[in-house]
Amino acid sequence: MLDILGIIFLLCVFIYWFYYRYRSEKFGAPFVPLEPQVVERVMLHSHLTPGKIFYDLGSGDGRIVVAAALHEAKAYGVEISTSRVIYSRLWLYILRLNDRAKIIKKDLFSVNLSDADVVCMYLLQRTNNKLKKKLEKELKKGTRVISVSFSFPGWKPKIVDPFGTKYGPIYVYDR
Ligand SMILES: C[S@@+](CC[C@H](N)C(=O)[O-])C[C@H]1O[C@@H](n2cnc3c(N)ncnc32)[C@H](O)[C@@H]1O
Repeated sequence: MLDILGIIFLLCVFIYWFYYRYRSEKFGAPFVPLEPQVVERVMLHSHLTPGKIFYDLGSGDGRIVVAAALHEAKAYGVEISTSRVIYSRLWLYILRLNDRAKIIKKDLFSVNLSDADVVCMYLLQRTNNKLKKKLEKELKKGTRVISVSFSFPGWKPKIVDPFGTKYGPIYVYDR
């Protein structure tokens, strides 16, 4: 009896995990957090100064948003997963960064980015391809776009930083 319950439990855990992974993939990217040293590279390329408006599209557990807020930017994370939104909001609360950092629970394709000074993302190539048009339409001139591992074909990067992930370098663009 216990064996059967154990198998049913494991099956439920697997289905739950598979569902969340599939759902994230379907929307734009699965949750794969960046290593701290890559977060630092993103910060380096962001040239943040107090009050600059920074977005992380698909903010996961909020680590990039926290880093940007610690650099005194006005930082926004956009995240679709409820559990990750709760987790990252909790971190912002614990670190007392609520005054300059916010997690928006939305599909990243539905957030207006026209006030952004820096937009960063770590998604998938097919998601970047889809996102390109929106960025071209919405971003003001001079906005910095930092894409980890996946490029925006047709845009000329200002910097290609090799210290990205195993999936690719960090692409830095100025619109
Ligand atoms: C590869 S993770 C990156 C997490 C974080 N930016 C980091 O670098 O550590 C991608 C994140 O994007 C989120 N995501 C995927 N599609 C999304 C969408 N359409 N709108 C908002 N968030 C999305 C996923 O839930 C996941 O947390």
